[in-house]
Amino acid sequence: MNIFAIETSCDETACAVVKDGRQVLANVVASQIKTHAQYGGVIPEIAAREHLEAVNVAIDETFTQSGLTPDDIDAFAATVGPGLVGCLLVGLNAAKSLSLVYDKPFIGVNHLNAHLCANYLDTGLKPPFMALLVSGGHTQIIDVENYDKQTIIGETLDDAVGEAYDKVARLIGLPYPGGPMLDKLAQEGNPVYHLPEGKVDGYNFSFSGLKTAVSRLVKSFDGKELPVNDICASFQDCVSATLVKKLRRALDEKGYKQVVIAGGVAANSELRHRVFALEAEGYAVFAPPMKYCTDNAAMVGACAFFDTNTTCDLGVEVFSRA
Ligand code: KG4
Ligand code: ZN
Repeated sequence: MNIFAIETSCDETACAVVKDGRQVLANVVASQIKTHAQYGGVIPEIAAREHLEAVNVAIDETFTQSGLTPDDIDAFAATVGPGLVGCLLVGLNAAKSLSLVYDKPFIGVNHLNAHLCANYLDTGLKPPFMALLVSGGHTQIIDVENYDKQTIIGETLDDAVGEAYDKVARLIGLPYPGGPMLDKLAQEGNPVYHLPEGKVDGYNFSFSGLKTAVSRLVKSFDGKELPVNDICASFQDCVSATLVKKLRRALDEKGYKQVVIAGGVAANSELRHRVFALEAEGYAVFAPPMKYCTDNAAMVGACAFFDTNTTCDLGVEVFSRA
């Protein structure tokens, strides 16, 4: 089954063709990062207009790359939420138009489920497993009992991890999006500053206190040159220790032997290092390659295939694959 998928929930116009939820036949991503970097964050109205300009080109390019024609496609899918509404509408309407014109089913996909499903691409991963989803908007521990039975057992009570990365990066003068650059500088520094881990019950998280602590630390230098690399390393160390501690506890409690990470922050070097260290304790660890961590449409194609429980935040009709 070939699914043609479109993702436009934030600042990437992405299209892909995925065969049977696992094999990526084409993957095209047009990033708007350069546009939004000048404003220090994503401007929703500009993002929606850039999607409009890019989406047809991305669709054509994806067909060319896959070597397929619309006749070879079994269903069209798009992210329906969560995301910026003007942006979502571009991809959603493009996919629905394609499905109407070519008389194929349309599958609406939840962006967060799609991030998790990035782990099915090019692997043989099967549920059950424990998942840590870390993106610009969300931080969740999810108990994935089956392809369509996922329970969020913990989440952030304030900032998402990616958001904390971007805010801390701005504090120390790094450009948007701060996560990748902060990660790079952290690898050049040492975690010499003690920063507080958010104390929250259960599997929930809090990162706003940590962000405030970094802000205080930065102010304590009173205009003198900042030890940027060490600040980055200290922040990164604290974040990844907090995340992996709770993830581990959730794994132990459920008795799962498989663990996955997903979302933009799953590209983070220290987080990957600590999660992959669980392999030494007998866990099977999965993390998507970098290109499937941040927003892309291949993950949407995988989700449309595997997750029969696709949700629709915009109230549009979802046709089943059957
Ligand atoms: O999943 P994603 O592409 O978009 C959302 O759905 O939010 O995640 C984007 C987030 C941004 O906050 C970005 O700074 C962060 O992922 N990010 C990273 C890294 N690469 C991307 N954060 C830490 N380390 C990285 N290497
Ligand atoms: Zn995302």
